[in-house]
Amino acid sequence: MRVLITGGAGFIGSHSAEVLRARGIELTVLDNLSTGHLDNLSSLGGRFRFLEGDVRDPEALNSAMEGCQAVLHLAALVSVPESIRSPLLAHAINATGTLNVLEAARAQGIKRVVLASSAAVYGENQNLPLGEGEAAQSLSPYAAQKYLGEVYASIYSHLQGMSPVCLRYFNVFGPRQDPASPYSGVLSLFIEALVQGKKATIFGDGGATRDFVYVEDVALANLLAILAPESSEPLIFNVGTGKRTSILQAFEAVREAAGVQATPAFAPPREGDIVHSCADIGRARASLGYHPRFSFSEGITRTVAWSQGGNA
Ligand SMILES: NC(=O)c1ccc[n+]([C@@H]2O[C@H](COP(=O)([O-])OP(=O)(O)OC[C@H]3O[C@@H](n4cnc5c(N)ncnc54)[C@H](O)[C@@H]3O)[C@@H](O)[C@H]2O)c1
Repeated sequence: MRVLITGGAGFIGSHSAEVLRARGIELTVLDNLSTGHLDNLSSLGGRFRFLEGDVRDPEALNSAMEGCQAVLHLAALVSVPESIRSPLLAHAINATGTLNVLEAARAQGIKRVVLASSAAVYGENQNLPLGEGEAAQSLSPYAAQKYLGEVYASIYSHLQGMSPVCLRYFNVFGPRQDPASPYSGVLSLFIEALVQGKKATIFGDGGATRDFVYVEDVALANLLAILAPESSEPLIFNVGTGKRTSILQAFEAVREAAGVQATPAFAPPREGDIVHSCADIGRARASLGYHPRFSFSEGITRTVAWSQGGNA
């Protein structure tokens, strides 16, 4: 089996590539290297086909999909603030880019396309834990574009007989997450600050909670979605852990793993930050056999070790 990973040189993409390759799956990676790096794929020792190209280019997608039986579509403009500043650019990459992927897959007779969606589609919905049937509430162009991808997936399922799967990732963390990225999760910012002996800032009182999921568990969910039996219904699954961790607890966990004495600085809460977020992962457990393997503290230990110069 050969799978195309768009955005495969990025954070989630490179971990997914490792998990798929370990299962003997052949890989094609399409990436424009805007935020991703080929170094992220160094553990594969060149055992993949790489195409530098853009999901806004239908021709690039057509040739990247040659010989593939499934697509894992991760390429995106992932910054929420950037999507607010440049909604047309974000739309071209996230919405039209996703439509391009579905259209190229249809042309190549590929039925299984796994789309990276996001917990952002739930907006401020506080009916926790959030089940997939909860109302979507897009509060940014990024969230709207991810939601639109799901809508297109549904249309391609019903009209074209394709079998897309949409995965709503919650707060993903782990090695290779770029702390320089404005989208970067709070964890990579804490880790960078504490490992470098700098002050970490908590916006608000630290009582906000998130469902932090370790990147290898997300990569495993991607594999399960690629291999899941075909379905006439488009499938949407949350990918989180079902557990809530407060920002203050997260700070403490990072501090402990880094082995430093530090206290955070506190700043006023940022406008638009969601207070609490947590996934109901019952559907992914039951239908995909998805069971997160990494506890929060184990994920933190691994991520801090990577940040201190260990291997990822
Ligand atoms: N990290 C998270 O917590 C999180 C949460 C929810 C959803 N997601 C989604 O998961 C996916 C992967 O995110 P990530 O965190 O690995 O980010 P990332 O920035 O590390 O990866 C994105 C990859 O896509 C590539 N890319 C960007 N624009 C492209 C384009 N136009 N054409 C081709 N390649 C392009 C980048 O170079 C990069 O390698 C994205 O779709 C993102 O929206 C991530």
